[in-house]
Amino acid sequence: MNYDAIFATALETLRDERRYRVFADLERIAGRFPHALWHSPQGKRNVVIWCSNDYLGMGQHPKVIGAMVETATRMGAGAGGTRNIAGTNHPLVELEAELADLHGKEAALVFTSGYVSNQTGIPTIAKLLPNCLILSDAWNHNSMIEGIRQAGVEKAIWRHNDMAHLEELLAAQPRERAKLILFEGLYSMDGDVAPVKAICDLAEKYHAMTYCDEVHAVGMYGPRGGGMCAREGQMHRVDVLEGTLAKAFGCLGGYIAGSANLIDAVRSYAPGFIFTTALPPAICAAIVAAIKHLKESDWERERHQDRAARTKAVLHSVGLPVMASSTHIVPLFVGDPEKVKAASDMLLADHGIYIQPINYPTVPRGTERLRITPSPYHDDVLIDALAEALVDVWQRLELPFGNRAMAAE
Ligand SMILES: Cc1ncc(COP(=O)(O)O)c(C=O)c1O
Repeated sequence: MNYDAIFATALETLRDERRYRVFADLERIAGRFPHALWHSPQGKRNVVIWCSNDYLGMGQHPKVIGAMVETATRMGAGAGGTRNIAGTNHPLVELEAELADLHGKEAALVFTSGYVSNQTGIPTIAKLLPNCLILSDAWNHNSMIEGIRQAGVEKAIWRHNDMAHLEELLAAQPRERAKLILFEGLYSMDGDVAPVKAICDLAEKYHAMTYCDEVHAVGMYGPRGGGMCAREGQMHRVDVLEGTLAKAFGCLGGYIAGSANLIDAVRSYAPGFIFTTALPPAICAAIVAAIKHLKESDWERERHQDRAARTKAVLHSVGLPVMASSTHIVPLFVGDPEKVKAASDMLLADHGIYIQPINYPTVPRGTERLRITPSPYHDDVLIDALAEALVDVWQRLELPFGNRAMAAE
């Protein structure tokens, strides 16, 4: 057997389907966000990043960098092992207390990423619940889908944000059966929001537990950055809140927050928590600085929304197909895997603008798009330059102009 040929064929399949991913070689410049350097085939070039999930630029905030450097200097680089082996480094204790407070829950547990939080947290909770049925929104993220797979329990998928369908599925079950409802506070590819109150009402009516992925909302929505459930005044009604420390908080890691017993049970049973090295102290200290800052400062949240609204308005005014989104995500419809890649390449090579193409399986085929994420630091000049560059690319690729607001629904 030619092992290597098998891998080559697998890659060829992706290329044929126009899904082969090429990563841009970028170097961020601390203090100059969203400017960065692109290591292009011709050498280093200045570019502007328009698709970062460091949504608020906290990855370069002086308080965050300061805490990281100061802690690394005092405590060193690594964590020294799993928490079982190395103990819990003190900044991690502070971080979990900070997160529990952010969500008004009794406790929180940190994992090495948001992905791992879902992938190991969901099956651990579901397996502990006797004869559990998982009810999952059809648009839930891959990390939740993998968590559901690992749970190996019965599952039911409800049509995205369709409360009548969720109720139908819940009503078909005995009231006393354990049920775990999984959803996201904000869906990041379309920028739409979950009907959190309606989900909590149904959970109450049918005696189900709720688990909300707030990865794209923590830090950015709600008083103190508690997320979409906080903004909707429902945070206390959601049993488990899951989030990332890598997007609005600018660092790395993930977590769940909930009751003391639930968190202690996941701590005690979740393989993806038990058998892996803890986050390094310097990263934990940096995240604590970011969370503390965003609990007190509304400037980033307000400016973020203002920049997103302005970007949408400017792109719309020049006739670009901005998809409907009520949040900070600005999706631009392309609907063709080759053209979305070509548009991204042209923006980078010809205009010094980096926006990665979004393809299947991240979004359904035929809905390929550019996903733009304005930050508090994208000023009017950058927004105007973006609009000009996009118009040029749209014309050269003969992409359709026009309002996508309805078609995207
Ligand atoms: C909805 C959702 N959940 C979880 C994750 C994983 O988070 P992390 O990047 O911290 O692993 C992502 C990643 O983008 C996501 O979009």
